Amino acid sequence: MRRLVTLFPFFRPYRWNLVTNGLLNAFGAVLSLFSFLSVVPFLRILFAGKATEVETQFVPTATDWPGMIGAWFDGFVLDVGTGQALFVVCITVIILAILKNSVSYLAMYSLATIRTGVSRDLRNKTYNRVLGMSMGWFTDSRKGDVLSRLTVDLNEVEISIVGSIEVLFKSPLIVLISIGALFALSWELTIFALIFLPISGVLISRIAKKLKHSALKGKEELGSLVNILEETLSGVRIIKAFGVERLFSKMFRDRNERHFKAMRKMYRREYLSSPVSEVISISVMAILLGYGGRIVLEGSTGLTGDWFIGYLVIFSQIIPPARAFSDGWFRIHKGVASLDRLEEMLEVANPVPDAPEGAAQMLDLKNAISFENVSFSYGDIPVISELSLEINKGEVVALVGASGSGKTTLSNLLIRFDDPSLGNIFIDGRDLKDIPVGSWREKLGVVTQESILFHGSIASNIALGDVIIDHERLERASQIAQVSEFANRLPEGLNTPVGDSGCKLSGGQRQRVALARALYRDPSILVLDEATSALDAASEHEVQKALDAAMKNRTVLVIAHRLSTVSKADKIVLLDHGKVTEQGSHEELIEKNGNYAELVRLQSFSR
Ligand SMILES: Nc1ncnc2c1ncn2[C@@H]1O[C@H](COP(=O)(O)OP(=O)(O)OP(=O)(O)O)[C@@H](O)[C@H]1O
Ligand SMILES: [Mg+2]
Repeated sequence: MRRLVTLFPFFRPYRWNLVTNGLLNAFGAVLSLFSFLSVVPFLRILFAGKATEVETQFVPTATDWPGMIGAWFDGFVLDVGTGQALFVVCITVIILAILKNSVSYLAMYSLATIRTGVSRDLRNKTYNRVLGMSMGWFTDSRKGDVLSRLTVDLNEVEISIVGSIEVLFKSPLIVLISIGALFALSWELTIFALIFLPISGVLISRIAKKLKHSALKGKEELGSLVNILEETLSGVRIIKAFGVERLFSKMFRDRNERHFKAMRKMYRREYLSSPVSEVISISVMAILLGYGGRIVLEGSTGLTGDWFIGYLVIFSQIIPPARAFSDGWFRIHKGVASLDRLEEMLEVANPVPDAPEGAAQMLDLKNAISFENVSFSYGDIPVISELSLEINKGEVVALVGASGSGKTTLSNLLIRFDDPSLGNIFIDGRDLKDIPVGSWREKLGVVTQESILFHGSIASNIALGDVIIDHERLERASQIAQVSEFANRLPEGLNTPVGDSGCKLSGGQRQRVALARALYRDPSILVLDEATSALDAASEHEVQKALDAAMKNRTVLVIAHRLSTVSKADKIVLLDHGKVTEQGSHEELIEKNGNYAELVRLQSFSR
């Protein structure tokens, strides 16, 4: 239960709602107590109507309060007559019912805010946490698992924990108030009854503990199910093209089976809570009937038959909230499993921390970006080792090298998706780590190796993040990146929807939109990772021409396999297994007749 403490901050904004809810519940509990007790005057009128005259003579000697109230009521019946008294009792019952239900409605009314508010806040927080995670986290954790945590587990927390708050707040109040009333009616009987309650408590908490374990197992299985589903949806073309539907189907079936078994175990345990507590409560009731009946028959205390029935009615009313409480306890255990999974996400620290508060913003690049002895590894596998590189302001630096040589990784370091394991990156002599990430990325225009588009129109993808689109810049960017060329032929032009992840556009079109997006921001530094690789020769030529223009007055890091696109760069850097092996201009490197010259020869042959 210590785990639940993490939820407390989420309840803080709603503390007044909680207080209101508690007060209303207490008031409601008192009111319902009285409406249950109204059975006593009925019984008194019905069974004792004729005998009242005799009994009143004994009444003044009664010292316990049931006796005194009984005496007062008998006097009242004598005064107004039984018919009139019955009428008054009926009206009182109706008024009590209206009052009680209004109060409980008001209590639920305030609860609705708490319940939905807490899960809204929790959802916002986890989502923002996901956005703030470092790139490494995204490659390590599987999408489906994250999705299932954010949807299913969050929902479970709402239903199980937040939903049980109602019960947990209300039931003990009702039980306590009722037990107080029971003590007032007959303390001997109540002490006797209370002896049996702890036994049931122990039994129930035992089952609840096991429940949490199976719930956690079930959730894990569900996470991997969603994973397969997510991969299937995004890779359905490949699955169909390679005819591996059966394989995926089997994989899914196996996982689903494991999920089924874990959940079945959990529900079997959960369902056990009801019968166990029912048997316990009925047994307690029966024992109480026997013991209380004897007290009434012996007449040794002030407890008369009508009050004993009232007592039993109240006692039976303790059982539903007590059961609701134990059920709530069960559900909370189930929810804690989900909360643990959410918490895991909330707790993971963000390994690319932002610069300290108050660090100076990045204004503009004045001199150079320099990598000094930068090394980087994914886990134990070194990808970049002791790399030094200078990118002067206004220069176009091209990174070339074999696939897997670490080009994208290097650009990730520059974008600060990751930090170097060793060495530093300096921006005008200032360590990149000391520059607020937000202000640094503002200066960057990035085209990633895979063109990533979002659901929306071409225009909204280009002007990503701008609520009010600057049409002039939009036009210019789409012109340069040759987006206009195909957008003009579409029925809605730039406002044409691109479909989920841009799937309505061709690969080359997507790439051009991605390029336009980088240019729209008018960045002073451009990072282009294979920005034109998906274009046909003609469009690449066009885009390249435009890019050459766009690269003017900008500092550019361009990555390309096609050497024709990089030959005009100010500096070409040849990367091999994370090390710089050659650098210089195209002419210098050809002159040198090293690996670069070899690559150029190979490519011109293959053309
Ligand atoms: N998230 C990751 N986790 C572990 N290893 C990775 C990760 N991303 C890349 N690598 C490894 O790092 C090495 C360099 O990858 P990188 O993407 O930088 O290559 P690249 O030069 O951009 O290749 P390409 O030209 O094919 O795009 C590769 O060997 C790759 O296996
Ligand atoms: Mg790459």
